[in-house]
Amino acid sequence: MLLTRQRRRAVIAGAVTVATAALGIGLSTQFASAQTTLRGAADAIGKDIGVAVDANRLQSNAQYRDIVASEFNSLTAENAMKWDATEPSDGNYTFSQADSIVDFAEDNNQTVHGHTFVWHQQTPSWVQSLNATSMRTAMVDHINTVANRYEGRVDSWDVVNEVVSDNNGAMRDSFWLRTMGEGYITTAFQTARAADPNADLYINDYSIDGINAKSDTVYRIAQGLKSQNILDGVGFQAHLILGQVPSTMEANLQRFVDLGLKVRITELDIRINLPADSAELQQQANDYQRVVEICAELADCSGVTVWGLRDADSWVPGTFPGTGAPLLYADDYSKKPAYTAVLNALGGDGTGNPTTTPATSDPATTTSPPPTGSGCTATLSVSSPWNTGATYSATVKANQALSGWKVTWTWPGSERISNAWSVTGTLTGASVSGANAPYNGTLAAGQSTTFGFNITKADGSTASVPTVTCTPA
Ligand code: G3I
Repeated sequence: MLLTRQRRRAVIAGAVTVATAALGIGLSTQFASAQTTLRGAADAIGKDIGVAVDANRLQSNAQYRDIVASEFNSLTAENAMKWDATEPSDGNYTFSQADSIVDFAEDNNQTVHGHTFVWHQQTPSWVQSLNATSMRTAMVDHINTVANRYEGRVDSWDVVNEVVSDNNGAMRDSFWLRTMGEGYITTAFQTARAADPNADLYINDYSIDGINAKSDTVYRIAQGLKSQNILDGVGFQAHLILGQVPSTMEANLQRFVDLGLKVRITELDIRINLPADSAELQQQANDYQRVVEICAELADCSGVTVWGLRDADSWVPGTFPGTGAPLLYADDYSKKPAYTAVLNALGGDGTGNPTTTPATSDPATTTSPPPTGSGCTATLSVSSPWNTGATYSATVKANQALSGWKVTWTWPGSERISNAWSVTGTLTGASVSGANAPYNGTLAAGQSTTFGFNITKADGSTASVPTVTCTPA
């Protein structure tokens, strides 16, 4: 793992070294100028920003290739490392597509998150019909062969994928479980650990983004694997629906971090009922921003990977007909509002900051006018109101170099903050006094950062947008 990380970070030339103690990592960080690519912004805070890629598109489409190289510092093979692609028949390994993706990553100083060794889908039927002994042999051979091939070139692996069912946290009733029993998970991790001791090993699943029965089961499995030192991290796929970022997502990731594990958003997309209108695209931007902020503020979140480049590349419309538009780029490769939101969440400086654009024509959804101020300016916007509450996004823009900032405002009515992220201070009363979090106070002139919060309010009342005073701290 170290090889590729060092290679990628070595290209952050001329970086001003700032101890990122608050992030819990000893990396060089560049604050000299605002970052204008996802990759630059993610590099500057020591995170992976990844994209799931298709080997054929990388080969055949220059525009796709250029964006993947310039905007992302991490790649995942969307399909090319799965069992059906790498070992379609017993002992017959085919690595051309996976190789081309790893080569591309190496050429472009990108890390690779490997996906995946053991899954109930995209595993050939010859594996599925084996008896317990032969299936174990096939699994061990497969993991050894693939992990050894990419040792030192793939930084982390989804060792097992989707092993918990959607049924109240029960184990998934897969051919793996039916044939080998629950021990198949331990076998997979033990094998992967021995095959590549330096790779980070992840358990990966969907619908575990918030605290629920399924993530509780993953938590118990993770505890067991961690106690054997064969697990390094948990992958949260985050195939989300518009407006439904779980309110417990931050707390959920934190409880896995508290076990001593890394966390990673591995397959992020946010689907919309088609056709998507501008308000929905703005809501999507707010949702993306929230997810990426959660990772940005957790020192042990290794990064965020989006599950495809353009909307047209996504698996979503095929699986959930009538929905789509879930990614950062439109079909014509233009950047969507979600792109800018992710850039801002990573601490970069996008033009046309979507968090300051009115989200919808809903009268309850408004944005405060940009107040004047010398050292910094801050604006609030309501991203999603409901009867008894709302989610707000806030942007702090530095008019001069800052080593910290403070924001204050007074709620005119019943609004009170119930939970907040990327901001600290006295937040819950009528008079709000907030300050930067440890990781988002240092801003170059012209650079912005974001924070957010939820409020409660009287049923049916409007979520107001007070003017914010921002001062350097
Ligand atoms: O490669 C064949 C091609 O030869 C054939 O002509 C074509 C015709 O259908 O199919 C191609 O295979 C498709 C493959 O993607 C590559 O494009 C499969 O049919 C299709 O089922 C497969 O879908 C992938 C899906 O996993 C499989 O379950 C999606 O691209 C991929 O995005 C999706 O990714 C999964 C993650 O691995 C795990 N988490 C959920 C996520 C979304 O389902």
